[in-house]
Amino acid sequence: MVLRWIVNVGLLAIPIGATVGVLMGIESHRQATGQAPLFAGGGDGEGAGGGGPSGGGGGIVSGGNNGITISQYCQQFYGIEPQSKGVEYTLNPNQWGWTEGQPGALCLNVTTFNNHTYPTNTTAPEFSVTWQYPQGPESQPVHAFPNIKLESDVLPVALQALEHVNIIVHWTYGVGDEAAASTDAQALSQNLLNGNVAIDMFIDSDQNNAENSTKAKYEVMVWFADFGAAAQPIGQDKGVVSTQVLNGTTFNLFSGQNSLQQNVLTWLASETTESFTGDIAPLITQLSAMNLADYPAESDFLGYLSFGSEAFSSNSNVTFSVPLLSIDVQA
Ligand SMILES: *[C@@H]1O[C@H](CO)[C@@H](O)[C@H](O)[C@H]1NC(C)=O
Ligand SMILES: *[C@@H]1O[C@H](CO)[C@@H](O)[C@H](O)[C@H]1NC(C)=O
Ligand SMILES: *[C@@H]1O[C@H](CO)[C@@H](O)[C@H](O)[C@H]1NC(C)=O
Ligand SMILES: *[C@@H]1O[C@H](CO)[C@@H](O)[C@H](O)[C@H]1NC(C)=O
Ligand SMILES: *[C@@H]1O[C@H](CO)[C@@H](O)[C@H](O)[C@H]1NC(C)=O
Ligand SMILES: *[C@@H]1O[C@H](CO)[C@@H](O)[C@H](O)[C@H]1NC(C)=O
Repeated sequence: MVLRWIVNVGLLAIPIGATVGVLMGIESHRQATGQAPLFAGGGDGEGAGGGGPSGGGGGIVSGGNNGITISQYCQQFYGIEPQSKGVEYTLNPNQWGWTEGQPGALCLNVTTFNNHTYPTNTTAPEFSVTWQYPQGPESQPVHAFPNIKLESDVLPVALQALEHVNIIVHWTYGVGDEAAASTDAQALSQNLLNGNVAIDMFIDSDQNNAENSTKAKYEVMVWFADFGAAAQPIGQDKGVVSTQVLNGTTFNLFSGQNSLQQNVLTWLASETTESFTGDIAPLITQLSAMNLADYPAESDFLGYLSFGSEAFSSNSNVTFSVPLLSIDVQA
């Protein structure tokens, strides 16, 4: 087993209010100073991470070189960058609005292939997240943004050079500890789930700032679902700014500012969309084509792209499962 320590170990978000978790990378100071990593992940999901004494992910390994490893991570933060012969991704439980000892819990399961060869060179490892948190205060209702972040050499990319952002995703949300076969919105509503399923991107005129989720001027989100009254896009009260239909799914644009003064542009699917295949580049490039103040320009850079679920609250455990994900950014 080859262990590689990753630099961007954790994603911390600043509590900024209603609907957006803005994430901040934290450096591995231990690594920078040559110290041993705090935790070594089980199986192939290696990492060095802080946050909580619950230890690294224990692996269930089966099938030898062509088998799979399932690792579980229940820490507050933990950067997992499984080796891949294709594009790499970093996964993180990212419980930024929760600390060890408080009520609630979240565990992230990651399934990695021991041969590092996924079905395509942009396929992400399968993962699922089982969580429960009580309702938080209105000033900080979000407890976590468990997510998978694309680590592609194509980023940062100028919007005018962006050709495609091809997404293939299938996810489900269900009540309980098991991955649901499909999403039963009524059962989730009865369980008082508040949360969303979203792609989170950052854009700035400066390439370095575009890679930094707290410094970037623009946050662009694509929501495939929102559950519960607490999970609403910023600016929803101001109404729909624009609409686009991508491969049969209608996305409505909302616009507003978060408390970091970032301009937040959210494309919300008009109904729960648990399977999506399509190129979302038009959702990004149309923003610059609109030529509005407070919107990105075509010379600005997309530097950051992740997919996950903002976890607000639910009555009992819910499981967010992502059996299929591929993100292919082409310039
Ligand atoms: C992002 O910017 C913030 C604010 O300047 C800084 O504290 C943080 O270290 C930066 N993160 C990364 C990953 O560079
Ligand atoms: C790699 O492992 C996966 C998971 O067991 C398997 O489906 C796949 O066929 C293997 N690929 C190669 C090239 O051996
Ligand atoms: C609920 O989920 C948490 C986090 O995944 C887990 O630790 C706990 O055992 C689960 N609780 C029940 C009652 O299944
Ligand atoms: C994936 O493979 C195709 C050819 O099969 C290649 O054109 C493409 O550049 C590869 N993409 C990445 C991200 O490696
Ligand atoms: C996550 O992994 C744990 C430990 O292996 C397992 O008990 C649980 O069933 C898994 N959860 C899902 C949703 O697969
Ligand atoms: C549109 O969606 C269908 C089914 O989800 C998929 O098979 C097809 O490839 C998608 N088309 C494009 C252009 O992405």
